[in-house]
Amino acid sequence: MARIRIGLIGCGGIAQSAHLPAMRHLRDRVALVAAADVDEAAARAAAAPWGADAYTNGHALLARPDIDMVLIATPEAWHREWTEAAAATGRHVLCEKPMATTAADADAMIDACRRAGVHLMIAHSRRFTMRYMQMRRAVDRGEVGAVLLVRENERRSRARRGGRGYYTAEHWSGDPAVSVGAAILNGVHEADLLRWFAGAEPASVCCEHKITIECNRGVPDFLTFTVRFQGGAVGSSELSNCLPPGYPAFHQFELYGERGALRARDHELITITRFREDAAEFPGGYEILLHNLPAYVREQAAFIDAIRGDAPVPMPPEEARAALRLALAAVESARSGRTVRLAPEDGARDAGARA
Ligand SMILES: NC(=O)c1ccc[n+]([C@@H]2O[C@H](COP(=O)([O-])OP(=O)(O)OC[C@H]3O[C@@H](n4cnc5c(N)ncnc54)[C@H](O)[C@@H]3O)[C@@H](O)[C@H]2O)c1
Repeated sequence: MARIRIGLIGCGGIAQSAHLPAMRHLRDRVALVAAADVDEAAARAAAAPWGADAYTNGHALLARPDIDMVLIATPEAWHREWTEAAAATGRHVLCEKPMATTAADADAMIDACRRAGVHLMIAHSRRFTMRYMQMRRAVDRGEVGAVLLVRENERRSRARRGGRGYYTAEHWSGDPAVSVGAAILNGVHEADLLRWFAGAEPASVCCEHKITIECNRGVPDFLTFTVRFQGGAVGSSELSNCLPPGYPAFHQFELYGERGALRARDHELITITRFREDAAEFPGGYEILLHNLPAYVREQAAFIDAIRGDAPVPMPPEEARAALRLALAAVESARSGRTVRLAPEDGARDAGARA
């Protein structure tokens, strides 16, 4: 069977650390034929191992006739633009999360792909991460009964002094013109998981957020929020992206049901960790973290199966839009200092919401 030919737009951190390694793993089924990035060196680095062509403009990539699927891994402020452009040329789109920075952009992406008759999936990698897949199956089997409370906490370190990293002055995530901040950059993962496990739409959201590093230009990098779901389940999440340099990434998910509880967390196979301003010392450990290759391989493989079988994608884009809606409500709550109430949406937009 011919391989699915991929055009990659955005060749930075997540493309290099997750999507390109996943493609290498799936090389019998996919081939990278072109890579585009406004940073020419990044495009060349992504393209070279595949003998693919590199572009500094995604439109030149889209003008090629030999691309079946476009993988978008630019910052989220450009997700709508590239999704619409890819759909207009008849390409299926796998786009990084968060889907967009506004609900209107998310709607436009869904509409563009629907009109063009192409598949769209937002790369919510946690849906393809084994721990959450197993927990979801346990909930579906009725192991814990009705879900009462879901909580996910996440911890990330900031860049070393002078380094380039999320929320630093040099990085797009620290620029309020293009970045909404932690609520959607990482918080959309939590919003999605809370909603997915609660099995209901949010009714109200209450959030506080904060800026915790000096060089940040005004984008909240820490937040804590609580959700009441229709039907009464409660969700809560707290995430920090700017802990001391080297602080190991950490995720803990807890679910309490009427008849039982489930918990998943990154384990620490280490005995001592020392945190300092310029470094942290902890022996090993990163390979056990959440952002693991198998999740990205499953994510790409599932989308390819949908393209090949012309079947619905495993996570409809309406699901990603619903997660974005919840995350944006958290932002609104934090900015206004009040609880945000969410009205049930009309049936069209909720279609697939309980996939
Ligand atoms: N699934 C996950 O868990 C996960 C993890 C990290 C990042 N992400 C998401 O992936 C996206 C990229 O994040 P990143 O960490 O890789 O950022 P990054 O800054 O490391 O890389 C982004 C790349 O996009 C390029 N770019 C920017 N604007 C462009 C444009 N208009 N056209 C072409 N290229 C452009 C930049 O030059 C850069 O190389 C973000 O939306 C982020 O939220 C998802």
